[in-house]
Amino acid sequence: MAKNDDYDYLYKVVLIGDSGVGKSNLLTRFTKNEFNFKSTSTIGVEFSTRTVSIQNKKIKAQVWDTAGQERFRSITSAFYRGAVAALLVYDITKRESFENVDKWYKELRTHGDKKMVVMLVGNKSDLKHLRSISVEEATRFAETNNISFIEASALEATNVDTAFTNVLSDVY
Ligand code: GTP
Ligand code: MG
Repeated sequence: MAKNDDYDYLYKVVLIGDSGVGKSNLLTRFTKNEFNFKSTSTIGVEFSTRTVSIQNKKIKAQVWDTAGQERFRSITSAFYRGAVAALLVYDITKRESFENVDKWYKELRTHGDKKMVVMLVGNKSDLKHLRSISVEEATRFAETNNISFIEASALEATNVDTAFTNVLSDVY
């Protein structure tokens, strides 16, 4: 039997949310510590991995990213299959992306495992002067649905590791 010394657990994590909220940049910030000012819309599915230590266990996070735009999305059921955690992302400066959180959350609950750990992520927290969703309003959604919530910035690398490690440790 093949023994894997690289990690103790492999967890699939999915990123969902509207186009342009910053899913791909959260992914590259977490897995490569990179940010792209001119990133183009994701087409289909991409994934990337990073291994983190949580309570002395090596957790390999396999993070899946897909297009926010319907026409570029891949097969929804395959995307969610086996996922143990999800980051549901909106842009704190774009009200529409927050209004669609409910739709994304329903999709996730329809296609994903019942026990999936979900965190709401308000990205682009560096753009506070353009904020259109308050922390209170997002917290209310999270509390109503019994999920956690954090604001983050892929640009400034604020709370990105925290968001991923929080959901991973809740799974573990
Ligand atoms: P789709 O692939 O179309 O679903 O979009 P996406 O959610 O992957 O968004 P993406 O990561 O491509 O980012 C969209 C735009 O927002 C890009 O111009 C990024 O540079 C920018 N962006 C992403 N994260 C941040 C952030 O934390 N702060 C700021 N200011 N801009 C960001
Ligand atoms: Mg993308």
